[in-house]
Amino acid sequence: MQSDKPIVFSAKRISKDFGAGKSLKTAVKDVSFDIYDEEFISIVGGSGCGKSVLAKIMLGLYQPTRGQFLYRDKPIKNLKDHWNEVQSVFQDPFGCFNQFFTIRSQLEDALNILKDKPSKEEVRRRVDEGLKAVNVAPADIEGKYPFELSGGQMQRMLLARIFALRPKVLIADEATSMVDACVRANILDYLRKLKDELKMTVVFVTHDIGLANYVSDRIFIMHDGKIVNQGTPAEVLDNTNEPHTLRLLDDIPEVHKTEWIKNSHRSKK
Ligand SMILES: Nc1ncnc2c1ncn2[C@@H]1O[C@H](COP(=O)(O)OP(=O)(O)O)[C@@H](O)[C@H]1O
Ligand SMILES: [Mg+2]
Repeated sequence: MQSDKPIVFSAKRISKDFGAGKSLKTAVKDVSFDIYDEEFISIVGGSGCGKSVLAKIMLGLYQPTRGQFLYRDKPIKNLKDHWNEVQSVFQDPFGCFNQFFTIRSQLEDALNILKDKPSKEEVRRRVDEGLKAVNVAPADIEGKYPFELSGGQMQRMLLARIFALRPKVLIADEATSMVDACVRANILDYLRKLKDELKMTVVFVTHDIGLANYVSDRIFIMHDGKIVNQGTPAEVLDNTNEPHTLRLLDDIPEVHKTEWIKNSHRSKK
């Protein structure tokens, strides 16, 4: 894709190996792409195809074994600086929150990682805004602990945290997998809203091509460490000669299929 926006991530023929000799496993194989500012990108593929490894390279947690990976034209060197701008949401919201502290205190503490830490009042205001952005009244979580909330509510707390942190780039790795399809669509709508309001770049990692179609500007289909198909949802879905894409389409539960395709972000525009 040609875009007039700056490039956020640039991968030039990157590979990532684990182990050596007989146990050598190449999780990402000679992958190249550019991701532009304010794009919503989905990385889609089956289990073990290398999605999370690619997401971790974007977060600076892994360095590619070969090739070059750049964030805004530079290699990722200082993780603290990197995480000031690039944030993640991972699969399990309960894993991201400590059971022994209130939700509010943890949402407020999340802002500690920012280089220019806002004032106490500003922190409170930003957390309140984050909660309101995901339709939770601040009073509803006052004094509450993670175990007092449902999985779906905790997913929203993760999104509230993102809204409070306002990262430039968000890496969301199967963030919606714990909740049912209806809540998922809801969360993706929020994610899309956060993206638009905060002018974020979002990389959404999922095995569900229906969800990807629903929210993305562009989709990368991965299989066995490689990107095997990429483009706008229309381009990817129309490329029916690509067998891995077809298989992923077959995997969408029948009940949601028409709904996802019909309600896709692009058809709303
Ligand atoms: N730290 C690691 N050490 C060895 N192998 C790994 C490591 N992380 C991932 N892998 C392997 O790389 C492949 C891709 O993993 P991953 O990116 O987690 O897949 P997924 O697409 O399901 O997120 C898998 O075969 C996995 O076993
Ligand atoms: Mg994964």
